[in-house]
Amino acid sequence: TDALKIGIAGLGTVGAALFRAITTRHNLLTEICGREILITAVSARDRSRDRGLNLDGVTWYDDPVVMARDADIDVLVELIGGDADPAHAAAIAALSAGRHLVTANKALLAKHGVELALLAEANGVLLNFEAAVAGGIPVIKAMRESLTGNAVTRIYGILNGTCNYILTRMQRDNLGFAECLAEAQRLGYAEADPTFDIEGDDTAHKLSILTSLAFGTQIAADEVYIEGITNISIDDIHAADELGYRIKLLGVAQRTATGIEQRVHPTMVPKGSMIAQVEGVTNAVTIETDILGELMLSGPGAGGDATASAVLGDIADIAKSRPGHQHAPALGRPADKLEPYQRAQ
Ligand code: NDP
Ligand code: HSE
Repeated sequence: TDALKIGIAGLGTVGAALFRAITTRHNLLTEICGREILITAVSARDRSRDRGLNLDGVTWYDDPVVMARDADIDVLVELIGGDADPAHAAAIAALSAGRHLVTANKALLAKHGVELALLAEANGVLLNFEAAVAGGIPVIKAMRESLTGNAVTRIYGILNGTCNYILTRMQRDNLGFAECLAEAQRLGYAEADPTFDIEGDDTAHKLSILTSLAFGTQIAADEVYIEGITNISIDDIHAADELGYRIKLLGVAQRTATGIEQRVHPTMVPKGSMIAQVEGVTNAVTIETDILGELMLSGPGAGGDATASAVLGDIADIAKSRPGHQHAPALGRPADKLEPYQRAQ
């Protein structure tokens, strides 16, 4: 009865990985959160598709908006994608009905983030979106919590796994652009429409979210200068290599004398720099602040499991968020619960 009931809208790369993560570690999550996390409802387009998931006891909805409004859920997890309906309508329906919203949808937040945040606030529910920026890297939490009180001067990084994967494979393996993109799609890194990745829009969406957290401004994705990687050839990559550089697609937001500048474009970075070492689907975000100095976070930026990890963290935060139900931190656990270390044979 005390379980946190979840409805997952979208059972694609991320939704299916999340479903597996929650169902396979049900007991662990119950122990950590102090209550069960139960998936009670799901929605996707094609009901007949075998997703390798055991949906027994879970209510299926063909329409995610109906699920968001009517299902017996405390949290809507929106993993459909896109800034339009049904993702937008489902998000609005959930928040209006007093349900928490967890989303990985940066396109939706870049366009409607302010509306959703105000609606969440008006209804006294939470809007969590860790997975929307840099996949599994906990950068939203860092910005919202750990860096409280710091004034950010600049935030920049590699924010798109697909592009970094393409640039890395072209450079390392001498492969063509189209071949690398197809591989990124096969691995579940790319957007449903990969134009958003390679033309830089996805990086711009993420950057605009980071900008709003870093500088306290309203999300303004349409104010980002955007140049993608579609014009980068193998020859460009080799020429940069000979000069001692790697080409990376960077998103940069910084305070200038005239305001906050936001830009996305391919950039030559010295081979020896930390950001040049960030390869494949790995993302990296560097945050420069007045108190802390320079912080660089890096890790898996896309893919089902990495993204599901961030979504799961958001859900667990909601499960743990009730006053009086805070769990002791792991350090306070009795040592006899630790498994003895097993040396590999
Ligand atoms: P997929 O395309 O793999 O999955 C989308 C899911 O939404 C599918 O299950 C699909 O149903 C369902 N869906 C699509 N349109 C509708 C509709 N009109 N009505 C009902 N259901 C619909 O996307 P991903 O899992 O890759 O991405 C999901 C979200 O997570 C997106 O916002 C994406 O930007 C974001 N994200 C993705 C990452 C990744 O690495 N893939 C990383 C970080 C964020 P069906 O299966 O039946 O076709
Ligand atoms: N398509 C996105 C990427 C998914 O490649 O980074 C993660 O947001």
